[in-house]
Amino acid sequence: MKRTHNATELDVNSIGQEVILNGWVDTRRDHGGLIFVDLRDRSGLVQVVFSPEVDQNSFHLAEGIRSEYVVAVKGEVRARPAATENPNLKTGKIEVYAVSMEILNKAKTPPFYIEDNIDVDESLRLKYRYLDLRRPEMRDNLILRHKVIKSMRDYLDGQNFVEIETPILTKSSPEGARDYLVPSRVHPGEFFALPQSPQIFKQLLMVSGLEKYFQIARCFRDEDLRADRQPEFTQLDIEMSFIDEDDILQLIEGMMVKVFKDALARDIKNPFPKLTYDEAMLKYGSDRPDLRFDLEITELTDLVKDVEFKVFSSAIAAGGVVRGLNAKTCGSFSRKEIDELVKIATDNGAKGLAWIIVAEDELKSPIIKFFTPEHTKAIIEALEAQPGDLLLFSADNENVVAKVLGILRLEIAKRLSLINEEELNFCWLIDFPLLEFDPDESRFVAVHHPFTSPKEEDIELLKTNPAKCKARAYDLILNGVEIGGGSIRIHQKDLQEKMFKTLNLGSKEIKDKFGYMLDAFEYGAPPHGGVAFGIDRLVMIMTNRPSIRDVIAFPKTQNANCLMTAAPSEVSPKQLRELQLRTRDK
Ligand code: AMO
Ligand code: AMP
Repeated sequence: MKRTHNATELDVNSIGQEVILNGWVDTRRDHGGLIFVDLRDRSGLVQVVFSPEVDQNSFHLAEGIRSEYVVAVKGEVRARPAATENPNLKTGKIEVYAVSMEILNKAKTPPFYIEDNIDVDESLRLKYRYLDLRRPEMRDNLILRHKVIKSMRDYLDGQNFVEIETPILTKSSPEGARDYLVPSRVHPGEFFALPQSPQIFKQLLMVSGLEKYFQIARCFRDEDLRADRQPEFTQLDIEMSFIDEDDILQLIEGMMVKVFKDALARDIKNPFPKLTYDEAMLKYGSDRPDLRFDLEITELTDLVKDVEFKVFSSAIAAGGVVRGLNAKTCGSFSRKEIDELVKIATDNGAKGLAWIIVAEDELKSPIIKFFTPEHTKAIIEALEAQPGDLLLFSADNENVVAKVLGILRLEIAKRLSLINEEELNFCWLIDFPLLEFDPDESRFVAVHHPFTSPKEEDIELLKTNPAKCKARAYDLILNGVEIGGGSIRIHQKDLQEKMFKTLNLGSKEIKDKFGYMLDAFEYGAPPHGGVAFGIDRLVMIMTNRPSIRDVIAFPKTQNANCLMTAAPSEVSPKQLRELQLRTRDK
């Protein structure tokens, strides 16, 4: 009973043929004299009819089968009577009359229905992930993911890239997250780290002269998880020699055009717009702005610097800024709705959120009494306010204001349904700062990673004013999600050393952690640069899913565990002894 056809290969052209199908019982309907079974395989569904008049044996077997039994059916393809055609089914014009059946395996009743749009707790789906993946929407996500990766491989192969694997057991390559560590048995007390990315190895492959490298690379980061973060995730990792920023941007745009065409049959337009980091933070309050809608933030600092309102003037006196957001048409919000916005602001670090409702012939606001009519007029003009609008103001240091108004911008867009879910909006973010000051560690840290090259004209700033130094880095943003990022790298030993020192690393630490890389740079390192994409995030957007868990076959939960295998788990005392490890009593 070996299959001759997939379920959805059958159509009106197959009428009259004898076929053998293998698959799962999706549903079974007993109509007394006839039993109808929707048979499911990877391709989809086809209706099988069991009739005692056609075959007694299979009819009796069919009386006992249940959903998710695995069966092989031989039968004849017939046209469905006109009234029973199912236009929702690809095979809805035909059915297969069984002449024999074999039950290949029985099945228990699954803990949830094997169908799309089920309303069950995700933890149950993750515990029985193999059943969850039987559901058509999950199967389709994995198939789309395969097409995306295949398209990437084809594209890069066509451009003369070489796919090369780099180690999983390695030394930590700092990307800003915590490492997953693996104890060494052979070297007690010593540990490997799982790679946070293949960053240093791919740079060394450039020193090796491979020139164009890529890898579908698994990366591991022990960080706080969110909907778009997993402890292990997959990057498309790329590195090239003798190139500049534009070469990489063009390469990637060409790839995205092909990937969306191959996997979704969608045409996307390039070149993608470029936005500088400063502009994005000012106008959208985010370094991954969602540009599917406008709602721009407006700088008001100069305009309000001598108003009597203490909240504004003292923030400015302390070196901060005042910015506003015109929530168009939200003047009708109730006090409760406005209080919700204020709460979002304070939950995200603001001390408060000032607001003005622009009514037909008056302004309603707790703060308007502090402004002169000239100030009020200037604010209204700057925000292009019209009757019916709600104006929101944040005063604080630049980072807080950007963050708060950026989040409110997204919130307003959601409440007003301004986002077209069909749109694909790409943009490059460029001119990132190279470093940012970390108050907890009281030192500068790399915004991207320590191998990113400063802009040529800013190298001097590394000594004098590191915060002002710009990086040769770029991120690709799609619909407000950072799907990729990269940079032109430092390839000179001196500059790399200078960079490490700016990050406050001591000579010994530099030598212990990165000595091998600095050594390599002394043997003819070419100028090089690259980029890496979060494949999970890209496929999440392509499938319109809220979480990357939906596009990863066996993901971890928000608590970084696997509900199906119950990993992580304790290991035996023998294993610990071999590793010379002892755990503390819980
Ligand atoms: P970066 O750290 O920006 O750069 O990572 C590149 C892309 O990987 C995705 N990503 C993640 N996806 C899921 N879960 C996570 N925890 C996670 N973390 C990151 C994002 C991100 O844009 N070596 C550099 C790249 C380079 O410079 O070439 C790097 O790893 O989509
Ligand atoms: P207060 O003087 O603290 O009662 O605040 C007066 C108004 O200003 C209230 O509506 C506050 O929500 C708002 N407000 C307070 N702090 C800020 C701030 N940092 N930025 C914007 N508005 C604020």
